[in-house]
Amino acid sequence: MDTFVIDGGRRLKGRLTVSGSKNASLPIMAAALLTDQPLTLHDVPDLRDLANMRGLLGELGCDVQYEGNLTRLQVVDESASHARYEIVRTMRASICILGPMLARRKRARISMPGGCAIGDRPVDLHLRGLRALGADIRLDGGDIIAQADELTGTTIFLGGPAGSTVLGTANVMSAATLARGTTVIECAACEPEIVNLAETLTAMGARIEGAGTPRITIHGVRELGPAEVRIMPDRIEAGTYMLASAITNGQVTIDNCPLDALLALLDRLDEVGVGVTRTDRAQGADRCTVMVESSRRLNPVQVTTQPHPGFPTDLQAQIMALLCLADGNSIITERIYEQRFLHVAELGRMGAVLHRQGPTVVVSGVPKLVGAPVMASDLRASACLVLAGLAAQGRTIINRVYHLDRGYQRMEERLRQLGAAIERVDEEEVAADASARVAAPR
Ligand code: EPU
Repeated sequence: MDTFVIDGGRRLKGRLTVSGSKNASLPIMAAALLTDQPLTLHDVPDLRDLANMRGLLGELGCDVQYEGNLTRLQVVDESASHARYEIVRTMRASICILGPMLARRKRARISMPGGCAIGDRPVDLHLRGLRALGADIRLDGGDIIAQADELTGTTIFLGGPAGSTVLGTANVMSAATLARGTTVIECAACEPEIVNLAETLTAMGARIEGAGTPRITIHGVRELGPAEVRIMPDRIEAGTYMLASAITNGQVTIDNCPLDALLALLDRLDEVGVGVTRTDRAQGADRCTVMVESSRRLNPVQVTTQPHPGFPTDLQAQIMALLCLADGNSIITERIYEQRFLHVAELGRMGAVLHRQGPTVVVSGVPKLVGAPVMASDLRASACLVLAGLAAQGRTIINRVYHLDRGYQRMEERLRQLGAAIERVDEEEVAADASARVAAPR
């Protein structure tokens, strides 16, 4: 298993370009199942989750071609209907094939996703929405079995205890494109990835209004056709590198930055004392160039995660790393996944002072973090530990970085280009190196 070794304390300086979005790519790739015509996608990033999605689509009769960041998908055989447990357990987002499969093939069988490191993550809202469209859904042997001779448009309230659901909205919106009549999704997710999916479906011939607002209206059509679209830049990757620049007191220029999707982060960074300056002259704010610089003194702030346009849960761990070094007490409240705090204990091993009570963590700023061996537990917690390691004094060793490879394209290479001392090594090499040092005569 791969491990990162980081020698912290270097200021990041330089330039990088944000990749295409993982979380936009996943439901957009699944939309290829809605037609037998080709779907051509630009800017799909090279990530493990997307390799898993290609594998799943291949099993479902889709011809998958990809080279660099260009992916071409076309269904050639519609007889399969089963998304197996072996794939679903490696990637929860497999659930987003459910809506497209049901709408086009009239049936789908997908293993029920289990819990994961960041919490329970139920899919009841996905099922509620698809049932409202007329699907018959039951559970058998750990699988969701869905069938519908025909889906019929209706008004669906898709809110749950934490508000809207991103992939639930994606599933219902995708299925409704081929339903008879009009579907209205109330309490729809407003995330920019939903807008990117709606743009894709529209390019395929769907009739959708209101994507990006809490009410999405879909007028069903008989069939969808070929399309070629570009995946939006990854707002979480962009935010993570902004925070990497801030925590190292660096000066990093970021191209292809989806600034308009990051307003809640910008608002918090402004209060912390991190400067984000737009340096390009393009129209619109979906693909900008920004420079991120921070002052030495970081102000403490309050952060509460919320559905978009609120502060994203996928940046909660990373901003916590930054606030560990602020001058005072910050308060972070997690409203989407109340258990998403596996990074807290690991940050504590690096000298951070954190007190958790339920969904809230009080972060008491310290003057410095110190390097330590730590364990990555999920994608964003791993990114948080990398940021902490970049700022810490001494060496940080992060185990199990395969979590990072699910969502960050060649992170260590990109950080090295910005001046970080970070290496990917085999876990056994690190262990052998440590025991050699213990055994060496003094
Ligand atoms: N929820 C329900 N019932 C459902 C679905 C969701 O109660 O049927 C709850 C969840 O437990 C959670 C909240 O609703 O409390 C929001 O979950 P949501 O359904 O929006 O999450 P998701 O669509 O499964 C996507 C991202 C996550 C991101 C969340 C929230 C993808 C592939 N995943 O998940 O990304 O954290 O939205 O923004 O788009 C990540 O990239 O690290 C990641 C975990």
